This record gives sequence, structure tokens and C-alpha cells, in this order.
Amino acid sequence: MKRLWVFFCLCLPGIAGAQTDSLLAPQITDVPHRQVLNLDGQWHYIIDPYNTGYFDYRHHPTADGFFRNRHVSDPGQLIEYNFSTSPTLHVPGDWNTQSPELLYYEGTLWYERTFQFHPPPHKRIFLYFGAVNYHGVIGLNGKIIGEHIGGFTPFDMEVTHQLADGRNFIVAMTNNNRHKQGVPTNNFDWWNYGGITRDVYLITEPETFIEDYFIHLSDLQKHIISGWVKLNGPRADHRRVMVSIPSLKLNSPCMTDGDGKAYFSFQAPNLVLWSPRHPYLYPVSIKAGSDTLRDEVGFRTIAVQGTNILLNGKPIFLKGVCMHEEAPFGGGRAHSVEQDHILLKWAKNMGCNFVRLAHYPYNEAMIREAEKMGIMVWSEIPVYWTIDWDNPGTLENAKRQLKEEITRDKNRANIILWSMGNENPRLPERLVFMKALVSEARSLDPSRLITAALQVSGAHHDTTYLDDPLGADLDVIGGNIYPGWYGPPAGPTARFTMIYNKPLIMSEFGAGALQGFHGDTTTRWTEEFQYKVYEEDFALLKTIPFLRGICPWVLKDCRSPKRLLPFIQDGWNRKGLISDQGIPKEAYYLVKQYYSGKTW
Ligand code: GCU
Repeated sequence: MKRLWVFFCLCLPGIAGAQTDSLLAPQITDVPHRQVLNLDGQWHYIIDPYNTGYFDYRHHPTADGFFRNRHVSDPGQLIEYNFSTSPTLHVPGDWNTQSPELLYYEGTLWYERTFQFHPPPHKRIFLYFGAVNYHGVIGLNGKIIGEHIGGFTPFDMEVTHQLADGRNFIVAMTNNNRHKQGVPTNNFDWWNYGGITRDVYLITEPETFIEDYFIHLSDLQKHIISGWVKLNGPRADHRRVMVSIPSLKLNSPCMTDGDGKAYFSFQAPNLVLWSPRHPYLYPVSIKAGSDTLRDEVGFRTIAVQGTNILLNGKPIFLKGVCMHEEAPFGGGRAHSVEQDHILLKWAKNMGCNFVRLAHYPYNEAMIREAEKMGIMVWSEIPVYWTIDWDNPGTLENAKRQLKEEITRDKNRANIILWSMGNENPRLPERLVFMKALVSEARSLDPSRLITAALQVSGAHHDTTYLDDPLGADLDVIGGNIYPGWYGPPAGPTARFTMIYNKPLIMSEFGAGALQGFHGDTTTRWTEEFQYKVYEEDFALLKTIPFLRGICPWVLKDCRSPKRLLPFIQDGWNRKGLISDQGIPKEAYYLVKQYYSGKTW
């Protein structure tokens, strides 16, 4: 027993803020268009609140633990776990909404599945997870092959030499404990959905393959398309690559450098630009040796000019709404394109051309579905409220999640804003931290606008001020206000001002209501109260000359353990314009009416 105790002390998985000594492979992008074996389905699981099965593999590489997936071979043997006789959970999917005993569970939960695979010759194989919330350690055939921290971005591991020809098994240790050093930290206003919440694939690639690429419209006037292609493998350097847009009969050959990276730039005179009204996507193909990668890409430019946001050189107004990545009916982490489509359709039917995907990167299918539907996106990393600003591990964690988000989605035309965080306190150490994130984002993707949802500084008489120093580093200012809900109502003389001559998106405002609860406009939680707050908010918004977008909080009621009022909240944030059963509240129709009348 002593031995077990020693491991337990050494291996608490509380490394939330630390740099992970992960064994991950470079991030492979455009996964939906690659040759994959889908490993979704029913996986066995074991709930393990005491980390009985977890050994610190970094110090004990031959550790037993549940990664071995052992089975009794003779009746006298003592093995106190058995995946094959344990219950199952569906992957992808949070565990919380798959079993009543797991709704509030926070801790370690093990997954296991077997699969048949016959590795083809001269190919490389990668194991890909769309996301594991929050900390995942992955084992294949009894050997630990990778680790990832961060609940909303993908990771992959090369398994070419770990796969057996025939029966294989994966054991994943997942843990959704919250941590002060985490990103997000241990306090946030959404449900802590744990587990393998997105797809799992085996990806098969040639020995030298196209790992990643970036393509975008770099010059609007001259219709110049440029970017780069990154190869991975023994013959990546000094290789010929062909970038093509077949429908335009455009083929651009380029050569990789010593690092396997090729740069290209070519003119596309008859290009049809992507826009919400015309979300045109071009089939693009990239060929390198025996590998061909295909994607659908939209071409547009996004920029700021004074207080205007320019899409393809023309000012736009963002008619948006905030969302959580939560299934449309009953909650749970949304993970399928069908669920994503319903949520986006609700937004579009309300008149939206824009969504703020709060407060973390969403699944790739959501971004691609929004792109097809002509919905522009504010994408955000979970640097939320008061995180551990002085912790270098926390900053590395945030930078890594930012890099994984931008790496995955940089070719999606509808993403126009990278948001560095939400409602962070105005501390000197926070400003240093956020400036580091802004410069990281600009170095990763100079083609998009940078923003953050800032707290306002409070109101003097009837004027609300925004003078957060971080605004100086942003292209577009996000501001969260809640007059009439968290403070006095916005009266007829209410005004909003800020110290920046930049575009403003009112990135949150609104009020709560229990759908179906009716009364007068002074009774909180009635639909009438919520409607009145929205009327007052719109009156204020109309007075702001530099307002270029609005995002009511929130599209639909969403689960939160912080919302505890019996018979009204019961674990749900009721600020939705639509209930958790998909029923619009009266305020939904007011927003719809405002958007239908707002032309730009
Ligand atoms: C905050 C926060 C949201 C939260 C909302 C609320 O501003 O950004 O995540 O859910 O307000 O209080 O409902």
C-alpha cells in the first residue's frame, strides 16, 4: 500500500498552470479534410476521484496504473479495475449530462476503448483529440504518448510506431478540476463540462505530408492572395508545392525552404469576396509530392479605420449575440454540427450577422458552419475574470491555447476578431499579461483584429466611462455593461463614452427572465422586466456614435453552478433571449425588430 501512497503524493494532476512537458506532435490542421478513422462512440469509463489509477508517468515511465488496461489472467490475481466490464459514455460529449451521478462531478475520469487497425506501409499515423476538458493524459497500448492542458483546443500525437497490427487500445486519463493557476481559473460562470468533449480520430498521412497552411486575401485593391504551406517529414525541405484555386484556373507553384515552409503570393483578378450576404467559399487544393489537401476558403479583408470596422473596405455594423457552446435543448457541451446549426440558425433568425463565441474556442464544425451561413465570429480564449497574472506557467498556458486556437482556425474567413479575454480586473500585472497575449496574437496572425471584452469604469451621474488601459493595444474595444440588471437602469439621459477613438462593440448587456414567468416591468425575472431593460439598453446604444457592434448576453439560457435561485435559476443563467428548451422570450423579438431596422 505504501508504494501506491508514494505515487499518489507525487502525481496529483494539479499542474494546471504549469508548462506541460507534453509529447505532442505539431498541430495538424484542416482535419475534416484528411484521411481519418473516426474513434467516436461508446468508450468505457471509470470515475476516479482519488486518482487511484494515475501514476506520474514522468517519474515512473513503467508505472502500472490504469494505462496498462490489465485483465485478470488467472482467478487468483488481484486487479481492482476492469475497463471492459465498466459502463460507457459517448465520445464526444461531456460526462456531466450523460449520467445524473456525474452532473456536478469534478475530478479524474478514465476513458478506454479498443479498436482494430492495420497500419498501411510507408504511412504515418496520428491520434487526434478535438478537445479534452481540462487536463488529459493519453495512453496507447499501455504506453503514455501525450498530455494536454486546456479544455477547448485540439492536440495530436504521432503513433506510427506505437500501433499494433490488429487490436489496439486507448486509455485516457481526463481531469476537470479547476485550478487557481488554470486558464480559465477556478471561478467562471459556466458549467465545468468535463471529459472528451470533441471528436477523436486516427489520421493517416504520407511520410512527408502537408501539416499546416495559411491562405488569405492580403491586398484588397490588387486582389493578391498570399500565405504559406508547412510540410512535415523526412523530405519536407526544398520540395515543390502547388497551391491551386481550380475554379479560377489559378495554380501557384512554390518551393519549401530548409525548414519545410513554402511561401506564395499570386493575383486573383476575378475573385468573389466572402461576406455575410454572399458567404462564397472557394475549393482550394494544395499538392506536395503524394499528398493533396483540399479545403473550402473564403477570401475577404477586415480592418479598422478610425471608429469604423471595414469588411472588404466597406464599413459594417455587427448585429450579434453572445453564445456558450452548449447544446440547444437541455444543456451539455455542444459537439455536433447539427447542434451547432440549430444555435446558429436561432441567431440568424434573430437577424444576426455576427456571434461572440464566449468565452473559449468552440469546436471546428461550429466555425465552419457559421462561415457557410455568412456569420462573422468573435473567437476568445478563456482568460476570464481574475486569473493568476503573476504565474509564468499560467501565461504560457494562455499563450499555448491562443496558438492552438489561431493555428486551427486561421483560414476561416468569418473569424474577424481574436479576443484576449473577458472582464479582467485593472491590475498592473494583468496589463503586462494581456499585452503579452496581444503581441503573441499579432505575431501568429497579423491579418485579423484584436479585441477583448473590457469592464467599464463605472458611471459618473448618467455617463458610463470606459478607460481600461488595455484598450490602447486593441484594434476594437469590447465593453460589457449591465444597466438595469447589475446597477441602476439606463435612463433617458444615460450616455456612454470612452477614451479611445476606436470602434466599440458592446460585447455584453441584457437581463434575466424565466421564460413563461409574466408580470409587470418592475418584477425581476419576468419576461416583461427583461424586455424593459432591453428597451432602455437600446435607447442608450443609439446614443453612441462610435458603436459598431452589439452582442446581447446571451442567445439561450445556459447552465452555471453559480446560479442558485430556486424555481427561477436552478443552476441556469436565465439571461438567455431563448429558454433552455428553445422557446424565445419576449425580449428576443425586440432584438429581432431592432436588427431588422438597423441598416448600415
Ligand atoms: C459577465 C460574464 C458572463 C456572465 C454574465 C452574467 O459579464 O462575462 O460570462 O455569464 O456577465 O453575469 O450573466
